Amino acid sequence: MKQDLILVTGASGTVGTELIRLLKAEGHKIRATTSKTPKDASSVHVNLATGEGIREAFEGVDKVFLLSPPGYADQYKMLSPMIQEAKRRGVKKVVLMTAMGANASDETPFRRAEIELEKSGLTYNIVRPNWFMENFNTFWIQGIREHGKILLPAGKAKTSFIDAKDISAVIAKLLTTDKFDNKDFDLTGPQALDHDEVAKAISDVTGKKIVYQEIQPNELKVGLLAAGLPADYTEFLLAILGFLREGYSARTTTSVKDILGRAPGDIKQYAQAHKQAWL
Ligand SMILES: NC(=O)c1ccc[n+]([C@@H]2O[C@H](COP(=O)([O-])OP(=O)(O)OC[C@H]3O[C@@H](n4cnc5c(N)ncnc54)[C@H](OP(=O)(O)O)[C@@H]3O)[C@@H](O)[C@H]2O)c1
Repeated sequence: MKQDLILVTGASGTVGTELIRLLKAEGHKIRATTSKTPKDASSVHVNLATGEGIREAFEGVDKVFLLSPPGYADQYKMLSPMIQEAKRRGVKKVVLMTAMGANASDETPFRRAEIELEKSGLTYNIVRPNWFMENFNTFWIQGIREHGKILLPAGKAKTSFIDAKDISAVIAKLLTTDKFDNKDFDLTGPQALDHDEVAKAISDVTGKKIVYQEIQPNELKVGLLAAGLPADYTEFLLAILGFLREGYSARTTTSVKDILGRAPGDIKQYAQAHKQAWL
């Protein structure tokens, strides 16, 4: 029987790297997209911001994992041409990752992409992860390393942070089984934590004193713009951090366990695995 060829967007990213590792370990055939110059024959150039390379990337493809890269506030514009091409080709399945809360309104760019996929007639899954634990060793790392502080406008709100490794494992499963076809899942970690509790978990594994310090949204905005983030994406981040601060990110779901048959990883396991990043 012919093996499925799976097209993976965001292949070099947090979710994509682990997803490809898992799929390859199970012997699946992968085509990885990159907006840069492809390094080997299993990679193809696709720029979702311009649409460049999309048609070619789908040649011979059976299934697709789709995400919108960070930095682009109009996720519908990034995702729609891929969904349209998937439909034109009649691929066997598309798994789309958006974000928890994306379906709160039908007007958000992420939700518009979800609706387009739901109505496409294609077999699909939609996964909406909550805030990644990995943000503490990527986006928010500078404050932790340089000042021993998690600096965010997050108030005292709790968030059911998820380990991105679990997101990748869920997506790998959904791409390779038909058990959950045409369903959508909100993905969370096992418990809701505030940022003081996250700071404690990082302190415990590193032996360094890390604290959470609340800052005003405008302070973060100045920092993000200075770091080169586009203005519209900065506004998007501030808006969703506002939802977090209001408590909308605290809900936990059983989706990871329902799909994988095991509990999602917790903050202690995450902190231990990423300890080196903060030393
Ligand atoms: N972080 C969170 O807390 C969180 C929570 C919920 C949902 N999400 C969602 O997760 C997604 C990000 O996933 P991630 O963290 O795994 O990504 P990531 O680590 O930031 O990696 C982004 C990927 O996108 C690729 N890319 C960048 N620009 C591109 C372009 N113009 N065209 C095509 N590909 C491009 C990059 O590869 P090349 O450089 O090789 O092109 C890279 O593989 C976003 O949609 C975000 O909204 C994040």
